[in-house]
Order: sequence, then C-alpha cells, then structure tokens
Amino acid sequence: MSLQLGDDAPNFKAVTTEGEIDFYEFLGNSWGILFSHPADYTPVCTTELGRTANLKEEFAKRGVKVLAVSVDPLDKHFGWRNDINETQNCTVDFPIIADEDRKVSELYGMIHPKASATATVRSLFVIGPDKKVKLMIVYPASTGRNFFEVLRVVDSLQLTANYSVATPADWKEGEDVIVVPAISTEDAIAKFPKGVKVVKPYLRYTPQPDKN
Ligand code: BEZ
Repeated sequence: MSLQLGDDAPNFKAVTTEGEIDFYEFLGNSWGILFSHPADYTPVCTTELGRTANLKEEFAKRGVKVLAVSVDPLDKHFGWRNDINETQNCTVDFPIIADEDRKVSELYGMIHPKASATATVRSLFVIGPDKKVKLMIVYPASTGRNFFEVLRVVDSLQLTANYSVATPADWKEGEDVIVVPAISTEDAIAKFPKGVKVVKPYLRYTPQPDKN
C-alpha cells in the first residue's frame, strides 16, 4: 500500500552527504521536503538540485528542511555535487541520501517498476511539523520539477494549516484565498476582519490572512 496524504511519514536512518541522519531528528519541528531523483550525473537532476540549492533562503524563510535521495552511492554523490555546484553556480549543502539498499525509496514508494526497475522517479513529499504527509507529487525522469511551484504549495499548505482557508487555482502568496465550506458566512465575517466576498454561498473569498 503506497503512502497517502495524512499518513505518518516513515522515519529512517540514512547515510547522506551531510553524515548519518535520523530523518525525524533532522526535521525537528520544521517542515520537510524529501525528494528523489533518478540518478547522479544526469542533466535534469543536476538542474533540479542546483535550483533547490539556489532557493535555500526561500526554503529557510518558510522553515522547510530539504533532503534529496537517489540509489547512488555516497562517493558518487560527492563527485556529482561538485559538478552541480560548478555548473549551477550554487552550494549544495542539504543532505543527499545514498539509498543504495533502497530502504528509503521503498518506504516512500519512489521506485515505479514500469518507469524503471532500478531508479527512483521524481517523487516529492512535503511533510508537516507533525510528521504527516501533506503533499506528494510524482514526475517522470524526463520532466524536471518546477521548484517555484513547490514553494507555492508550501505557502498554501502553511496558510491552510493555520487558518480556515483554502487556496484557489493558480493562487500565489498575497492573493485572495477561499473560505472553507465548513465555516458559515456569518462566522466567516466575524473571523476574517479584512472582509468576505460572497460570489455564491459556497464560493467565498477573503484577503489572505496575515501570517504570524
Ligand atoms: C536526467 O536527470 O536528465 C534524466 C535522468 C534519467 C532519465 C532521463 C533524464
């Protein structure tokens, strides 16, 4: 049975480029992103890890710790990391897990045999401070992920975790959000001092609540 939203994110110990880690200890009370790539020394993966490194401040601002994983060994990760730093003009300092025994890949269902019998696909899990799986995306090897979209969904997840709101299609930080159906319009008016726009009884917007 593969992982589903709301499941506990499985804990593990792993060998990484930043030393041995216990996943839960590494995360502490932070949000986490665990993302797999198919293989070291491949072009799309090089750009993905470079982009992640270059977005370090954005992840930090959101209190998110990132970890990459592939089934390649540690020495290969180290050599490839030099190439990423050189070609993507970055410093990769987040852990890259060397999952040679596929423990992490199997726990998180990152190997899809019909795509590749041996390599991980591009899976990405967002894990909340409660260690529950909040979001999963899966891309094939040939399509690099959009890390601005990853930041956008983290913004949405963090907002909706703290307020009774959801975010509409294509929402971006700062735009109006949606009042969840569980809240009556009367309660919404009291709860959202910036105002509530009722388009339909089930479609109600409010300006984005201020984040603490
Ligand atoms: C890449 O990262 O470029 C890649 C990896 C595996 C298959 C195809 C592309």
